[in-house]
Amino acid sequence: MISSEHLDELMICRLDTERRTVEPCSIVIFGASGDLTARKLIPALYHLHQEGLLPEEYRIIGFARSEKTDASWRTELEEALTRFSRSKSVEKESWAEFSSKVHYCRGDIDDAASFKKLKDLVAGFGAGPLSHNLLFYLAISPSHFALAVGQLCRAGLICRDDPHGWQRVVVEKPFGHDLVSARELNRELTQHAHEHQIFRIDHYLGKETVQNILTFRFSNAIFERLWSRDCIDHVQITVSESLGVGRRGGYYEEAGALRDMVQNHILQVMSLIAMEPLDAEPIRNEKVKLLESIRPIPPDLVSQMVVRGQYRAGTLNGKPQPAYRDEPLVKPGSNVETYAALKLHVDNWRWSGVPFYLRTGKGLPMSASEVRIQFRPTPHVLFAARCGPKLDANSLTVRLQPNEGITLRMNGKVPGTSMQIRPVRMHFSYDAEFGAYTPEAYERLLLDALAGDATLFLRRDEVEAAWSLVDPIRTGWEGRDLSEAEFYTAGTWGPKPADELLARAGHAWREPQPLERTDTPTPH
Ligand code: BG6
Repeated sequence: MISSEHLDELMICRLDTERRTVEPCSIVIFGASGDLTARKLIPALYHLHQEGLLPEEYRIIGFARSEKTDASWRTELEEALTRFSRSKSVEKESWAEFSSKVHYCRGDIDDAASFKKLKDLVAGFGAGPLSHNLLFYLAISPSHFALAVGQLCRAGLICRDDPHGWQRVVVEKPFGHDLVSARELNRELTQHAHEHQIFRIDHYLGKETVQNILTFRFSNAIFERLWSRDCIDHVQITVSESLGVGRRGGYYEEAGALRDMVQNHILQVMSLIAMEPLDAEPIRNEKVKLLESIRPIPPDLVSQMVVRGQYRAGTLNGKPQPAYRDEPLVKPGSNVETYAALKLHVDNWRWSGVPFYLRTGKGLPMSASEVRIQFRPTPHVLFAARCGPKLDANSLTVRLQPNEGITLRMNGKVPGTSMQIRPVRMHFSYDAEFGAYTPEAYERLLLDALAGDATLFLRRDEVEAAWSLVDPIRTGWEGRDLSEAEFYTAGTWGPKPADELLARAGHAWREPQPLERTDTPTPH
């Protein structure tokens, strides 16, 4: 007899057959001494190598200011792999092979001679694809993005039309700090490279669970039919983090929660949740349409539609957490928000009248990202008439991380001789279904950039549309010091006005729940 797992295997629809192959190439990482390289980029490349997903022939070059040799950088990376890679270990044979392809180039972004040196190094790989197919990863300060690309162009390392190969640039976030600077950066980058050579990364799009949003919506007929104002009351998107800003105070003082998380990750998740079915059009067109149909919040309405907050000293995971204002590199009287909650409306046929509540914060009780689709209650007859607001409306929670999965919450009869109703759940868990292995977001994204597939990267107009939504909110906050009500104690779910934002419409935040716990309905 065929087991059910075997049957599931037989039913897999393999859609990757059209995936482009990765040609032999060289990958140059600018910012090679930084955290991102050690924690994410090198582990991702190493795992791709281990799984045989990189081409037979490739090179990795680290470019940074610190004095290092190939050998000393390799030793650092080996140590980083044991600390940060998902396998937390290095396999001797594959490391030997991988590390033999790793090189280091000491250089300065503002020094043309450093780029000449880089060019010579790359040329040393021969006249073939290793010196023509080049992926440049900019893991550097955003203020250097345009300069780096300009230098690459002047050194002849990036060409707009190279008959011998391809060159691509991966740009980390933040992409600008407002609409004007993002437009300027786009203008500067496209002076030297075509739009199709620029890969603006948002690592949320590389997460399995985020990619699954589209699969879930558009490969299941039962849910898509419910996916509109007819059945959905409101949507909540929560991205909470239990840590404070730690060593990133300097960066965070310039960013704040709105720029750091809402402008990119959360709006991306929202656009996948709310966009129209793809039909023949590429995903990115649909995401832009959705972002453009979100009603901007004018500065004078910001206080009604947006809540900001900043954590005070408290306790996180049983440990004392200092106030944001006391974190290293943070100004003592800083008004930067470590929390933001927004109410957004989408002005289109599908979503008219359905609020989307978005929130994110540091120093919250747990790290969890999830989308909760809250369905409308049943008509006020039969059980609803007797139970009143105690009868929970159905909801569907897409858990992006941790406990990756999807839960449908409905009502059921408590077994017994009396008539009692309470919420019950149906869970899909990635771990239970597929085992614990999930590739890191950067693995998928690096592979796509190497293959020249930009679907999971942000297009110029997408980034600009997102800034157009965030800028007026910042304008509304400008010059206003944080009020007493806007502070929250680290380890709690944010400032009080965030609850009031929902309560005004008869709604309430649902806290992400550890899977094993039975969540209780929040009374409306
Ligand atoms: C980054 C932000 O883009 O995303 C960080 O700059 C944040 O502040 C991080 O902590 C969250 O990513 P993840 O994958 O841990 O949810």
